[in-house]
Amino acid sequence: MKNITLGLLGFGTVGVGVADGLRKNGALLTRRTGLRFTLGKIADLDWDTPRDITVDPALTTTDGFSVVQDPGIDIVVELIGGTGVARELILAALEAGKPVVTANKALLARHGAELYRAAARNNVDLRFEASTGGCIPIVRAIREDLIANRFAGIYGILNGTCNYILTRMEAEQAAFEDVLREAQALGYAEAEPSLDIDGHDTAHKTTLLASLLHEAPVALESVPVQGIRGLSPEDIRLAGELGYRIKLLARIECDNGDIRAEVRPALIPRHSLLAQVSGPFNAIMVKTDMADTTLYVGRGAGRNPTASAVLSDVADVARNMACGCPRRVPGLDSEQPAVAVKSLAQTKAKYYIRVSHALADTCPDPVRACLKKDGLNIESAVTRPLSSGHAAATACVASPTTEERVRACAARLKSLQSRHEQPVWMSIQEGL
Ligand code: HSE
Repeated sequence: MKNITLGLLGFGTVGVGVADGLRKNGALLTRRTGLRFTLGKIADLDWDTPRDITVDPALTTTDGFSVVQDPGIDIVVELIGGTGVARELILAALEAGKPVVTANKALLARHGAELYRAAARNNVDLRFEASTGGCIPIVRAIREDLIANRFAGIYGILNGTCNYILTRMEAEQAAFEDVLREAQALGYAEAEPSLDIDGHDTAHKTTLLASLLHEAPVALESVPVQGIRGLSPEDIRLAGELGYRIKLLARIECDNGDIRAEVRPALIPRHSLLAQVSGPFNAIMVKTDMADTTLYVGRGAGRNPTASAVLSDVADVARNMACGCPRRVPGLDSEQPAVAVKSLAQTKAKYYIRVSHALADTCPDPVRACLKKDGLNIESAVTRPLSSGHAAATACVASPTTEERVRACAARLKSLQSRHEQPVWMSIQEGL
């Protein structure tokens, strides 16, 4: 029986999950693949922090390069994260002819083009199932299961931390900062939590999914991003009264060879499947011509779910090695620079618009007049007293229009607001 030896780079939450998964389910993996998996070396700079797993000290090192250069290591698993030493180590491993499995979405979103080319040049696999959607097998679904389809788009909840925060804020009126701390303690949040709450982690994953749909690297900087920091409990409540739930939504649409994308909080109908996805769960809805709509749901963060995706890539790469067919599924390498996504701002959508004002009447006339001036029709509206000091807030659903019109209207509405704060507006995504 062929033995496959793994070199682990990074022994944090997910690294420990991979070692633990191998310990518990290694025999199962062997039965299913006919291959034996062993941990050959583990690199981490910190061996003082206690972990809830014991490893043979002979396997441990602080030198990641000694792992990638070790001729006894068959597959390198990169779980360090970030775009610094992780990039150097992956490049070194690929140049040494070793396949790499990584969960590093930030690195692939920023430097994917360079890494995909290095993998192609050296005829080795570079796999990243765990980078997007935690345990959800979305990379495989797009690249293999839906291979006969033309893609229309993807709508996704891609950040477990944000979804956890939004769920708790809605269900228990929990305070943003308290829930964020819990998400960190549960191992969902990034070491730097602004990556989660300001939408950058979702943008990394959106860039990867857009690259998969476009079959070539997409430029991260071109994806507009807005996170959930500053989202008020009042908007969560008012959106609920209007029949919607707020989610941090990744939107990718394929349009005649162009790719459009953005990451923003958006309202989705409360009865839709996507709106039911709560807590740390992620959901990815894929729209294609033949399969129509498919929806993938699962834990998007956390030790074991992410480790499950890492080990699925390890098994797949090992099978490729065993049958002598590396890159059975080709990579995303391209000689062209990463493609910029186009804007979704011209796409018409319904909009949620909320104004705080000193008037207690139902959708006061000045608000109605202001929306009308910009050609916005109100489909429904609620006016409620506010907890935050203003007398009342009116939240409206405007019938489909462009972002440009909503921006113009919001600038005009600002003069009606108490203390001249910005009105809040978000797009409404129907059809999910
Ligand atoms: N911080 C990420 C999340 C981890 O909350 O989704 C998984 O990528």
